[in-house]
Amino acid sequence: MTTVSEAPTSTAHIAPVAGHIGAEVTGVDLGTDLTDQQVADITAALHAHKVLFFRDQHIGHAEQIAFSRRFGSVTPSHPYDDAPTEFPEILAVDSRLYEKRFGVRKFSYTNHWHTDVSPLINPPAASLLRAEIAPERGGDTSWTNLAAAYAGLPEVLRTFVDGLRAEHRFGGRQPAWHEDSDYAKKVAKAPLITEHPVVRVHPVTGERVLFVNPGFTTRIVGLSPRQSDAVLKLLFDELSDPAYTVRFRWEKGSLAFWDNRATAHLAPSDLEHLDVTRVLYRTTLEGDIPVGVDGAPSRSIAGDQFVGS
Ligand SMILES: [Fe+2]
Repeated sequence: MTTVSEAPTSTAHIAPVAGHIGAEVTGVDLGTDLTDQQVADITAALHAHKVLFFRDQHIGHAEQIAFSRRFGSVTPSHPYDDAPTEFPEILAVDSRLYEKRFGVRKFSYTNHWHTDVSPLINPPAASLLRAEIAPERGGDTSWTNLAAAYAGLPEVLRTFVDGLRAEHRFGGRQPAWHEDSDYAKKVAKAPLITEHPVVRVHPVTGERVLFVNPGFTTRIVGLSPRQSDAVLKLLFDELSDPAYTVRFRWEKGSLAFWDNRATAHLAPSDLEHLDVTRVLYRTTLEGDIPVGVDGAPSRSIAGDQFVGS
């Protein structure tokens, strides 16, 4: 464990929990006004460890939004949110809502590895997810470090993917919802599609990040469908290698804060047979437009920038 601030009222303890990603943060009460030093410490830890875990933070929506806002502009909950809470910035990840929304029993939007809302021209810079109701067993979330996944590729493959671009489409290749649902109609009416570099350069750390994900990336631009599928399969296998991942067990009051520019995450799929409820609340920070190794930015095919306040 390392202590990154010596001030007695603002000491954040950062304890890495897996080989490539994740750190548990203690010594910070998210329900209070953070000092500038605490914000700086948490920001540095976020960029170093990609996902931070906080425990026993019994805060409400207003406190979650206030905490989020110390790190950037907070966006509305989601481009397609159809069950808003009284707080427009809060997205409910509520198992009780999914059956109604998608027409299928689920505990999250998708059970594929994904980076939140990557089909936006400016995907969120970060996401914060707080558990309100956690099942007694199961329901863990996993994250993977996309910078480590890129760095782990042999040089010949890094050079190859550096020059590629890929299409990200909301719904991906296998939409999670029933095709007759209102949600499907809403997405079809206002699609979100963006061409991103396959390797983006992180604007803060300068790291190269393997910016594709099975949840939203539909094809590699310029390849045949067969070639594209083969390349994406290789990349998806790499980024979901357990070596680059960390897994988090939720309890009421747990909060995860991840760098959405350098990670993908995986919702649980081990609860469908259990009669349990899982409720979490998400906020997202406004993101920038990704830039590739060649300096070329992403290109919107459908959809506008998603901005916060
Ligand atoms: Fe997500």
